[in-house]
Amino acid sequence: MKFFVDTADVDAIAELNDLGMVDGVTTNPSLILKSGRDIIEVTKEICSIVSGPVSAEVVALKADDMIAEGRKLAEIAPNIAVKVPLTWDGLKTCKVLSSEGKMVNVTLCFSANQALLAAKAGATFISPFIGRLDDINLDGLELIGDIRQIYDNYGFDTQILAASIRTANHVTQCALIGADVMTAPPAVIKGMASHVLTDKGLDQFMKDWAKTGQKIL
Ligand code: E4P
Repeated sequence: MKFFVDTADVDAIAELNDLGMVDGVTTNPSLILKSGRDIIEVTKEICSIVSGPVSAEVVALKADDMIAEGRKLAEIAPNIAVKVPLTWDGLKTCKVLSSEGKMVNVTLCFSANQALLAAKAGATFISPFIGRLDDINLDGLELIGDIRQIYDNYGFDTQILAASIRTANHVTQCALIGADVMTAPPAVIKGMASHVLTDKGLDQFMKDWAKTGQKIL
């Protein structure tokens, strides 16, 4: 399973990238706002750190404008994946840009039918949002499973990019279901290292070690 980091925070990306935890990055307009940076500048800097796909999202709503924005974003670096919303205009944009050989990430996916349309439009990635479905008492993980089955039934090569991941358990479940990629905030990725028994065991080892009076260095 590939790990994308869902942030435009360059320092956080660099820290995780140094550990080999970053196969790509996803951003969106809200994350650009949070970064306080110019979209072109920050995306260029992210692409200089990470060699895998870096998603940069269009903000126009009409296909012609989305296509123009997508082409501009794709000029930033060869590893840009143009992110488009799952609207009819977004699907038109996906078809045009993917036909030009650009990577396209179709985002804001909340149903299996939407994912089916994105695959037929040539999407490189489909981004189903788990957390936002859970927020309205629907089952985000069930959607990942449904898309996995549909794509496998028909041999679609669009990669399932599980998004809106809020917990370490979401990551485990996505890996078990067979999502190709997951994107999560840095805090969720770091949280995957935590376990209460690790903390308890380490505490006991430190206490016992102190009693030996020994030193390694
Ligand atoms: C994915 O590409 C999105 O940027 C992101 O996962 C959305 O997550 P959120 O629902 O926590 O905002």
